[in-house]
Amino acid sequence: MAVVVKSEVNSNAAVIKSLPKMHRSIATYIKYYERVVPLVLCDNIINYGFNFQASTYSTHSGRTETSEERVRMEEVWIKKGNLYYDDIRAAYGYTIKQYSQDNPLFSVQHITDFRLNRYTEGGFMSEHVDNIHHSHGQQYGYPQVSVLLFLNDDYEGGDFVVAGKVYTPAKGSAIIFPSNFIYPHEVKTVTKGTRWSILAWLM
Ligand SMILES: [Fe+2]
Repeated sequence: MAVVVKSEVNSNAAVIKSLPKMHRSIATYIKYYERVVPLVLCDNIINYGFNFQASTYSTHSGRTETSEERVRMEEVWIKKGNLYYDDIRAAYGYTIKQYSQDNPLFSVQHITDFRLNRYTEGGFMSEHVDNIHHSHGQQYGYPQVSVLLFLNDDYEGGDFVVAGKVYTPAKGSAIIFPSNFIYPHEVKTVTKGTRWSILAWLM
């Protein structure tokens, strides 16, 4: 059993006790916020002409594999120094602030680089959880939450499903949710058009 300092137990218990009961259900830790990413920023990123690569799926042995049975999506990593990094970071900052207000015990120590995801027609990501301690070079441990920013909504299909809840996100919106074993999630097949989103993991 983990040793916990008594004062921590007491202060955490006080905060949890003060939350309404509904706050403790699984669904209430999934948050959807609109008007997070400025629409002009969404358009600029989409039209920039990034150089995409086919997404790979990381296995538990640490290998990456290209498997169209599990994911069909193209990706590019946006890192510090990129033209759009600061603006995207600001959108994440806003999302984190909102989520922190909704969840007083939540705090962030680290945010990963941003992965721009492009799903063309037929694209999807099968159900999974984000055990990223061996994924894509982002070796930071298990994320507390994963955050998706949605850059467009002029496509069909491509719903985002997390823990059984189905979202059809609006352009410029964000979804933030714990991405552990309790929150399996997937992207349904895009049936028309191209779906653009950005992902980051918060540690
Ligand atoms: Fe995920």
